[in-house]
Amino acid sequence: MNQSKVKPAEGKLGVMVVGLGAVTTTFMVGVLMARKGLAKPIGAMTQYDRVRVGRGEERRYLSYSELVPMASLDDIVFGAWDVYPADAYRAAIYAEVLKKEDIEPVRDELQKIVPMKAAFDRNFAKRLDGDNVKDAATRWDMVEQLREDIRSFRKENGCDRIVVAWAASTEIYVPVYEPVHGSLATLEKAMKENDCEHVAPSMCYAYAALAEGCPFIMGAPNTTVDIPAMWEMAEKTKQPICGKDFKTGQTLVKSGFAPIIGTRCLGLEGWFSTNILGNRDGLVLDEPQNFRTKEVSKLSTLETILKAEDQPELYSDYYHKVRINYYPPRNDNKESWDNIDIFGWMNYPMQIKINFLCRDSILAAPVLLDLCLLSDLAARAGKWGIQRFLSFFLKSPMHDYTQGEEAVNNLYQQHVMLKNALRQMGGYEPDQELD
Ligand SMILES: NC(=O)c1ccc[n+]([C@@H]2O[C@H](COP(=O)([O-])OP(=O)(O)OC[C@H]3O[C@@H](n4cnc5c(N)ncnc54)[C@H](O)[C@@H]3O)[C@@H](O)[C@H]2O)c1
Repeated sequence: MNQSKVKPAEGKLGVMVVGLGAVTTTFMVGVLMARKGLAKPIGAMTQYDRVRVGRGEERRYLSYSELVPMASLDDIVFGAWDVYPADAYRAAIYAEVLKKEDIEPVRDELQKIVPMKAAFDRNFAKRLDGDNVKDAATRWDMVEQLREDIRSFRKENGCDRIVVAWAASTEIYVPVYEPVHGSLATLEKAMKENDCEHVAPSMCYAYAALAEGCPFIMGAPNTTVDIPAMWEMAEKTKQPICGKDFKTGQTLVKSGFAPIIGTRCLGLEGWFSTNILGNRDGLVLDEPQNFRTKEVSKLSTLETILKAEDQPELYSDYYHKVRINYYPPRNDNKESWDNIDIFGWMNYPMQIKINFLCRDSILAAPVLLDLCLLSDLAARAGKWGIQRFLSFFLKSPMHDYTQGEEAVNNLYQQHVMLKNALRQMGGYEPDQELD
């Protein structure tokens, strides 16, 4: 019996995605195929995970939708923006992630998903040159046009609620700049004055989404919502936001593996992570300024799990390096290598090698689905601002660094945070047990 006080998930849920590339099309095809019973949404926590409630003889394991009112896959309506005009069918074929036979059964639905013009600035992604781009005089004008897109989409599709998610290319690195990003008033002023250096296009999408009463999700490592100005905007509009950069392949492994070293009190000398990747994401990340954004996000994971201040003899001076190499023959089938130099009893050295032959978008699609459905849940539960329970899905969980707060990157702690938030929303007591 569902005892949750969360508002029911009635009506249609609009999922508007920025970027209609490999991740987004793989996500859309998977949802549409699952709806027809032709594919399984494997890897999606919202579709498979179970949470224990009660203890001892009373304990039960409930799926998320048994615990809290979740939107169903059948309720989703898709929309998108992209720099290139190809519809979702052509974009899915172009991405070469899925086989044609897995796309064809939902061809008609995909062809109806035509991307709206992008809020784009080539200075933020030099390797892209599409012309399906808004003509905007200022960043504020970009925001106004995006808000109009969201309103029209809501009306035309009869959506009850909307979430907006960024699964577009990684922008160049934008360091946090207090005079602009420090408050909502300064950010709005910079948008109106068309400060193109400090206001990234992604910030315009985030601002527009929040202003229209939609949760916003940042799937890339961009500096977008992790600034005090956006926290203020999320508070003002009472909308949920979370961290950034889908945690899919190498960082998922890292956030699950580093706790083994830490829990067992082994020492760490160095961790070298490298990747080869050949899709459009890899092409954009081949540009040093775009890679810098990713590097910062990928590096942060380890330092909050294996900390020098907790164990100076074990973790005071390890060398951590992350590389991504663009290698077209591999397309979306990213290969990652991790070489981990550890030390044990009497400082004797040992090595661990991890070689993950993954598929980038196959791992990212369920994370995108989970973040959309759980952000919608959070909004209906009346939760706004930073949603720490969504850290599980992100390489850079959001935290209030102005107050010295640290992100939780340990995968198992993140899972406990996720389950406890669901327990609470479901009307149960949170606890610290592992199952
Ligand atoms: N696949 C993964 O495992 C993974 C993990 C973490 C993060 N990501 C991030 O997800 C994002 C998408 O990855 P992908 O493989 O689908 O990339 P992709 O290159 O296939 O697709 C990105 C799309 O975004 C579009 N785009 C760029 N700027 C835009 C803008 N301002 N407005 C609208 N559209 C815009 C591009 O034209 C492109 O079609 C990337 O930033 C990537 O770093 C992916």
